Amino acid sequence: MAETYAHITGWGMAVPERILTNAELTQMVDTSDEWIRSRTGIGTRHIAENGQTTASLATEAAINALRVANLSPPDVDMIIVSTSTPEHIFPATACLVQERIGAVNAGAFDLLAACTGFIYAVNMGAQAIRSGSIQNAVVIGAETLSRIVNWEDRNTCVLFGDGAGAFVLQASDQPGGVLSAVLRSDGSGSGLLSVPAGGSAHPIDEQAIADKQHYIQMNGREVFRFATRVMASATREAVEKANLLIDDIQLIIPHQANQRIIDSAAKQLKLPPERIVTTVEDYGNTSTASIPIATCEAIADGRLQPGDNIVLVGFGAGLTWGAAVAEWSGPFPYERKVRFSLYRLLSRIWSFLQRIRRRFEGIIWDTEDDK
Ligand code: ACO
Repeated sequence: MAETYAHITGWGMAVPERILTNAELTQMVDTSDEWIRSRTGIGTRHIAENGQTTASLATEAAINALRVANLSPPDVDMIIVSTSTPEHIFPATACLVQERIGAVNAGAFDLLAACTGFIYAVNMGAQAIRSGSIQNAVVIGAETLSRIVNWEDRNTCVLFGDGAGAFVLQASDQPGGVLSAVLRSDGSGSGLLSVPAGGSAHPIDEQAIADKQHYIQMNGREVFRFATRVMASATREAVEKANLLIDDIQLIIPHQANQRIIDSAAKQLKLPPERIVTTVEDYGNTSTASIPIATCEAIADGRLQPGDNIVLVGFGAGLTWGAAVAEWSGPFPYERKVRFSLYRLLSRIWSFLQRIRRRFEGIIWDTEDDK
């Protein structure tokens, strides 16, 4: 049987329009533009407006990615949303995206590996395709971190931003696509970066709110040290696993947490700035969304061409870290353009009909119970 490969054929991103500058942050906490820029490289970040949520950003990014791939929503077999700021504890944000994009034949689930999540999600989607169990997957990294940031804590509030990015993965017997992945974790560092309250260990109560335990808590220095240790090593491991050399890699797309962490990884790998994508200045740290957003920016800037080898590499809470190597594909050739506005309308009608069906089923069951 011919081998199956998982190609990246679509990409898309979505960020809120509202931009929060360093100057505005100086009105909120004791900080300065100079401190933020010199310690992190961040200049601005996008912040979700009322009504904008992780699911709405994820949906926009997914539709943009499907448009590039020209893949119709009913052909999507699997949706993975990687997020640390899901819409709810349950249902999965991925199910909300499934409904909104009209992916009526897709399985959908969320994945939590913090900022490394998108790399985990790409690998899960690629594995499912390579195993032959599915043909097409949409993997999304989406966050509204502004909702779990303590805006009175200068140690964290200057770092994070909101946004979403998505890839479409498709099966093909042509070699290429996702070539390797290295996924790692170390739970002994779980206390270094967490949102302590709101889960089963510490349900939110008045005390948790008073202690601000429902917000991000971070030991920045420790996370920084860990990040500078793993970024280069994970990159090397994934490149070796793909039977390539660092010199064969055209572009590294790292998690965008801090310019100094990215520079340190580049130095260890002996790579010049033109082979590293950085978007941290404009978007801040958008956690799991940062790698797909940076990929979209690299494409928009003409820095990524079909046939290029890329490394996606990241680290985050957990602790988690990982890297994936891919040969960049671009969209598969197609003859007819998919009409996405039509699918959005059909998906609304479909959801409405499903709700009516459930109501009638309920009435019929209740009537039968009465007999
Ligand atoms: N403005 C001004 N001063 C500040 C600010 C601020 N926004 N934040 C902290 N400081 C102060 C601190 O209070 C400290 O003061 P002190 O010495 O009087 O106590 C001083 O600046 C230096 O603090 P450090 O922590 O040593 O600063 P550092 O150079 O390490 O930079 C930073 C801090 C930017 C947080 C850095 O440690 C970092 O980037 N760490 C990694 C964080 C990260 O990547 N997190 C995301 C992980 S991904 C995920 O899973 C969500």
